[in-house]
Formats: sequence, structure tokens, C-alpha cells
Amino acid sequence: MSSEEETSQTSSSSMSPPSSSSTTAHFIGKKEEIVKAGRVTKLVNRCRDVLVLYHQGQLHAMDMRCYHAGGALQHGDIEEFNGRLCIVCPWHKYKITLEEGEGLYQAVDDPMAKPLRTYWRSKGVKQRIHKVTEVNGDVYVTLNDSSEAIESDTYQTERFRTGSLSAQPKPRK
Ligand code: FES
Repeated sequence: MSSEEETSQTSSSSMSPPSSSSTTAHFIGKKEEIVKAGRVTKLVNRCRDVLVLYHQGQLHAMDMRCYHAGGALQHGDIEEFNGRLCIVCPWHKYKITLEEGEGLYQAVDDPMAKPLRTYWRSKGVKQRIHKVTEVNGDVYVTLNDSSEAIESDTYQTERFRTGSLSAQPKPRK
């Protein structure tokens, strides 16, 4: 067994999106340990850095680096916007829904109106969300292998894995 325990052995060197061979459920850790830690990050299937977090009784999993510029989401706060739980990227404060990976932003219909009226809107799915399951206290992630490109795929490369794990914000070009 490799250092990364899995329910079955798979091998893939593909980057993103995850290959179809990655539909295996990958062991992440014991639920009680994840609950205690709140967040864990793990390289899954040797190809994808995933953040698993526990919040309000629910487990969630998503790509670890923010779709905007690769920010370290494991350091983000969780807040509710328009009734939707989001992780707030610590780098530039982008809001990403935990359930769907949608990017939320505030829009105004009339920038000259006083008082200004703002609305929460969605930019669509920007962060790849993965499936989390728990079996007898063990937590597994099944990678979302949708072939549709999602912006957070950009940061699932060896370059970002080895070079941009700092929690410091990076200017976006
Ligand atoms: S908001 Fe996440 S990297 Fe910019």
C-alpha cells in the first residue's frame, strides 16, 4: 500500500481534470481527526491537491487552490452570503460556495443610486468540488472527473504544487 491509502489501487499521472481512472474513493483520514482539525489537505491519486473541511456537521471537499490566482483556501474563513456557505479566499477575498464551487460577487443595478443596493450573484462554477463519503468513521474523497474545464484546474500542476504553497497573496497578472 502506498502512503496514500485507497480503497483500491489506482495510478494516474494526469493533471487536470482528473482522469476517469480516478473515480476510486481515496482514503483521506479518520472523521474524528478531520473534525478536530477542521481542515486537511491531501494529494489525492498522486495528481490532485484537495482540501477537505468540516463545517456545521458537514464534510466538504474541493480543489485546494483558489481558482482566481491559486490562493491557499485551507486558510480561508467560512462565511454565509445570501444564505450560502462560502469559503473566503485569504488572498483576495473571493467567495466560493462550499456545495457547488460557484464564485459569488456583489452586483449593483444602479451605481448612482443612494442608498446603493447590492445583490449577490454567481459567476458560475469556478472551483472543482469533489465528493466526500464517510464509512464507519473513515472519510474518502472521490475526485470529480467531469471533463468540463473548471478554472481551479489551472492550479493543479506540479509548478503550483512545488512553488506556490505559501499563504502569502500573489499579485494576479
Ligand atoms: S481570491 Fe483567491 S487567489 Fe485571489
